[in-house]
Amino acid sequence: MKDYFELADWKIIEGEFNPGDNRFAESIMSLGNGHMGIRGNFEEQYSGDSLPGTYIAGVYYPDKTVVGWWKVGYPEYYAKVPNATNFIGIDVAINGEELDLALWEVLSFRRELDMKQGYLERSFTAESNSGLQVAVTARRFLSMARREVGAVSYSLTPLNQKIELELIPYLDGAITNEDANFGEIFWEAFQSEAETEEKNYSGRGYLNLRTKKSDFLVAAAMEYELSKEPEEITALREKKYVNNRIFLTAEAEEEVKLTKYLGVTTNRDYQDEETGNQAKIRAKEAKQAGWQKLFAEHSRAWSDIWEEGDIIIEGDTAAQQGIRFNIFQLNQTYTGHDPRLNIGPKGFTGEKYGGATYWDTEAYCLPFYLNTRDNEIARNLLLYRYRHLDKARENADKLGLEGALYPMVTMNGEECHNEWEITFEEIHRNAAIVYAIYNFVEYTEEKKYLIDYGLEVITAVARFWEDRAHFNPRKNKYMILGVTGPNEYENNVHNNWYTNRMAVWCLEYALDTIAFLKDEYPQRFQQIWNDLNLSAGELEKWRDMIDRMYYPYAEELGVFEQQDGYLDKELKTVSEIPEEDLPLHQNWSWDRILRSCFVKQADVLQGLYFLSDCYDLTTKKTNFDFYEPRTVHESSLSPCIHSIIAAEIGYQEKAYELYLRTARLDLENVNNDTEDGLHITSMAGTWMAIVHGFAGMKLEERAGEEEQQKILSLTPFIPEKWKSYAFKINYLGRILNIEVSPSEIRVEREKGEPLEILLQGEKQVV
Ligand code: BGC
Repeated sequence: MKDYFELADWKIIEGEFNPGDNRFAESIMSLGNGHMGIRGNFEEQYSGDSLPGTYIAGVYYPDKTVVGWWKVGYPEYYAKVPNATNFIGIDVAINGEELDLALWEVLSFRRELDMKQGYLERSFTAESNSGLQVAVTARRFLSMARREVGAVSYSLTPLNQKIELELIPYLDGAITNEDANFGEIFWEAFQSEAETEEKNYSGRGYLNLRTKKSDFLVAAAMEYELSKEPEEITALREKKYVNNRIFLTAEAEEEVKLTKYLGVTTNRDYQDEETGNQAKIRAKEAKQAGWQKLFAEHSRAWSDIWEEGDIIIEGDTAAQQGIRFNIFQLNQTYTGHDPRLNIGPKGFTGEKYGGATYWDTEAYCLPFYLNTRDNEIARNLLLYRYRHLDKARENADKLGLEGALYPMVTMNGEECHNEWEITFEEIHRNAAIVYAIYNFVEYTEEKKYLIDYGLEVITAVARFWEDRAHFNPRKNKYMILGVTGPNEYENNVHNNWYTNRMAVWCLEYALDTIAFLKDEYPQRFQQIWNDLNLSAGELEKWRDMIDRMYYPYAEELGVFEQQDGYLDKELKTVSEIPEEDLPLHQNWSWDRILRSCFVKQADVLQGLYFLSDCYDLTTKKTNFDFYEPRTVHESSLSPCIHSIIAAEIGYQEKAYELYLRTARLDLENVNNDTEDGLHITSMAGTWMAIVHGFAGMKLEERAGEEEQQKILSLTPFIPEKWKSYAFKINYLGRILNIEVSPSEIRVEREKGEPLEILLQGEKQVV
């Protein structure tokens, strides 16, 4: 799929229609505004292959866990993101024939996503069986300025004859999910209305549906305006579907345009009885404002986002388009406006992963929001987990353990994923929650966060590790058995190096935090000490675990062994796998994958990235040289981490190759699964690959007593092909603009006080 989309700096362009690639293109062409999202589906009827997708943030359906063999501790449900009311729909009939690109001959076709202004435009010409030709241009956006508003403009021109035209704007809630068990319907009818307004040649529709079991209401209201007086409008109201049917005539070459305004609300934001009204008000206000004003507000909001968060690459359009696509999709998925929301690995672009929260947020997404947006957004991401602490305690308790175990997959704090090897065993996710707190506090220097919220979470996670590890007197070591590390191509392994190492890091951070707070906030600290029931004995146990944790290590190779026994496997490299066997997860049986040495995603290397300060370059290089050739990168989260380490150890070409792989993963359908939706969370990893990898940005310890504890350090290099790259960083109240070219590195302070930084190891004041 390498060249499917045209290369352009600000656009993704599909220049012809290939029905077999439609799902893939629909994923790429998704729009979202943090509150809702839609795949790049057509407005008019399309009977060919398509994955219809409209998703509303925070709305989920708790699908009952159905397994052959129930295991104690399984969650009751698996959360699914319900495909919601299709509100963009506008059906078209011409001289009684339905316009349907699966049945008409497509003469020309272009679908393009404009990332600068945040809209999708599709234009085509098509011919019916009877020789009738039409040209259509449809444009739409979901407002970044008014979250509950969207708009679609649809213009149609008959090319070779006068036509009788029916335009049918509708709202359709009679929809299903592809991933529903036994074709179950997730929505029940609640309210519907459709009316016409003769004098103004207009009309409207309204549909409010309720999810079964979880009782979410999602209301959609539509208003519209026409470029031409219609002859007649009729309205149809069913329980889950409403429309207006508009009858017009159009001369050959006469353009007729319908502009549809939408209001979409949920009872997450309003009382049940108010939800529907609010949708109607939003649609009405949108119509009053009109397309131009709405679009101007929306594109201004995008321009602000780009002003802060763009990465500009000169000399390499593929790389430029890749990073912009990633930044665009991230901002469409999560805007930080609602602290109850989080970032689903597929955002609003598909059903898979159920719109739920994974460790991806803390491990990959946090740095992006932390450095490109207001601190409040990153803080909201942390508070999301803080609010779920009680549920995480319950979750640990359910497994018979102390402390808190954050869920691997969640919508509301409860675990909602039911494969035992993930739910019960992929416990390393707990460490990422604590690592995110550390990251946030280091970058923002908001130490107060620790006393207000952080310590409670850190302690609860430390207690989990305390209980989950056990002491093995034969080896005189602590061990953590029966886990799945980040590399999900190994299950139920013992002593995954990453898990053991991160558990110890959590204990160290817990002890450091306690010591720091005791000094700085003694009174409040004493209260927390009592509330959390901490004791000197418990802290002593943590110290002992830190001292005597067991780590698998292959001395002869100088590598951290991924887990006990990993080196006993048949040690092949990816280059030995026949090309037709890749991706492995689509071609090999699961047991063959489990037995093989192939690594799905960064595992040991993930640890070397997080704990970068603790390891020297030789260690990183030795481990990279060993694991990279055995890594198939079949999780989208993988190449970015490998790229960062490659950059650090001086493998610049490799870093660039892995960067392109992560940046263009979806545009080129590298993992052959983009049709299910985009890999949103790994998109933040793409950003990290440039900022942490190529530019080498990190915080370094300062020697001596200084007010600011760490110093921002940059050690940039520039890939050979690039003329320059530039990005901005939000750091301690400053906005720094960093530009790198082969001859020069410029760091400019756009906002805030002067700042001391390390540039290629030298102290400089910006
Ligand atoms: C990865 C996990 C990740 C999940 C959601 C899986 O394929 O192995 O690490 O959390 O996808 O992105």
